[in-house]
Amino acid sequence: MTTQHEISERCLHLPSSNFDKIMKMAIENKNVISLGPGEPDFVTPEHIKEAAIIAIDKGYTHYSPIGGRAETKEAIAKKLKKDNGIDASPEEIVVTCGSQEALYLATLSLVDPGEKIIVPDPGFLAYIPMVETVSATPVSLPLREENGFEFDPGELERLIDQRTKVIIINSPSNPTGGILKKKTLEKLADIAIQHDLVIFSDEAYEKLVYDGKKHISMASLNGMNDRVLTFQSFSKTYAMAGFRIGYVAGPIDLIKAMTRLHIYTTVSAPTVSQIAAVEALNGSQKCVEEMRKEYDRRRKLITKRLEEMPKISSLKPEGAFYAFPNISKLGMSSVEASNFFLKKAKVLVVPGSEFGRWGKGYVRMSYATAYEKIEEAMDRIESAVRKK
Ligand SMILES: Cc1ncc(COP(=O)(O)O)c(C=O)c1O
Repeated sequence: MTTQHEISERCLHLPSSNFDKIMKMAIENKNVISLGPGEPDFVTPEHIKEAAIIAIDKGYTHYSPIGGRAETKEAIAKKLKKDNGIDASPEEIVVTCGSQEALYLATLSLVDPGEKIIVPDPGFLAYIPMVETVSATPVSLPLREENGFEFDPGELERLIDQRTKVIIINSPSNPTGGILKKKTLEKLADIAIQHDLVIFSDEAYEKLVYDGKKHISMASLNGMNDRVLTFQSFSKTYAMAGFRIGYVAGPIDLIKAMTRLHIYTTVSAPTVSQIAAVEALNGSQKCVEEMRKEYDRRRKLITKRLEEMPKISSLKPEGAFYAFPNISKLGMSSVEASNFFLKKAKVLVVPGSEFGRWGKGYVRMSYATAYEKIEEAMDRIESAVRKK
C-alpha cells in the first residue's frame, strides 16, 4: 500500500479489544475450548430456515418497504402486546439489521454531541463505542456483585445532570446474567419521569430467564410507554444471529426520526430475514423453550462447578447465557486470569474489564456451547487453579 490514509478521530478512538487478541490465540490452537461466544451455538430452527428458503425461491430478494414489511411489523406488534404487555402499533416499530442497528439509530436520533448517556457497567461492549462515535459522553452506572448486579437507584440519580439524555438498561444482562427486579424498574421509572429522560431498554435476552423468573419490559410499566425505546432481537431467542434482524418499538416521533436515518444507513433489514422472522414469531415456540431448557442445564453445571473451585466465586446467573465469576482472589487482573486460563487450561474466557471498569476482577464464561465441552472446560480450569 502506497497511500497512508488519515483515519477519522472517531474511528481511531474505537477500542481495539483484548478479546480480539485472545480469540486469535484460541483459533490458532485447536485444543482450546471456547467459552467466548456471544451467540447461540444452535442452528436456526428448521421451520424458520424453511421459510427463508421458500422466500428466496419465490423471489423475495428486493428491498423491503422502509422501516419494515407490513406483515413483519404486525407480527411484532402482536408479540409485544402478548409477551411484553407493550402497546405499539406497526407505525411505532422499525425493523432493523439486528438490534444493534436499532441502538445506533436511537442514539443518533436522540443525542447531540456533548450530551450524556448513562450505560450499565459492566455492560454490552458495544454501548460505550456507540455513544462515543456520536460524540456523546458515556457515564458508567456501576452494577455491583453485592447488589446482585443490579444498579443502585440512589447512585443512578447522583450521576444525572443537565446534559443527561438517556439511560440504557439491559435485562437480562450481558455479561453478568443478572435480571433487574420490578422494584428496581419502578424506581427507574420515577427517576426517568422526574428528570425527563428516555430509557433504552435492551431486551435481547428476554426469553432466556431461569428458575421461574419473569422478564419485565420497562415500557409495560405505568406511564412509561412514551419515554422507553424497547430493543429486541431474533439473534438469541431464535438462534438467528446471522440473519441480522431485530427491531425497536417506542414513541412515534422517535420512531419517525430513526426511520429517516435507517433509509440512509441500511435502507432496510434483509427482506428474507423479515419473512423468516414472521415464521419465528407466528410459528411454534417449542424450539425457544427447548433451547432455553438446554441453556438452563448448562447454567446449572457451570455454576455448580464454579462453586466448587478454590479462589473463584460466582453468583448464579438468572438470565442470558453467561456466567460472570469473580476471580479477584486468584491475585490476577481479569486480563491476566483470561491469559492464565488460555495458557494453562486451554480454555477461552473473556476478561470482565472488556465490559467496563466495573468488570475488573471478573471473567465472562458463555454457556452457549455444548454441555460436554463445558464439563471438560471446568475440569481443566479447576485443575489449573488447584495447581497454581
Ligand atoms: C446485550 C446485547 N444487546 C444487543 C446485542 C446485539 O444483538 P443483534 O444485533 O444481533 O440483535 C447483543 C449481541 O450480543 C447483546 O449482547
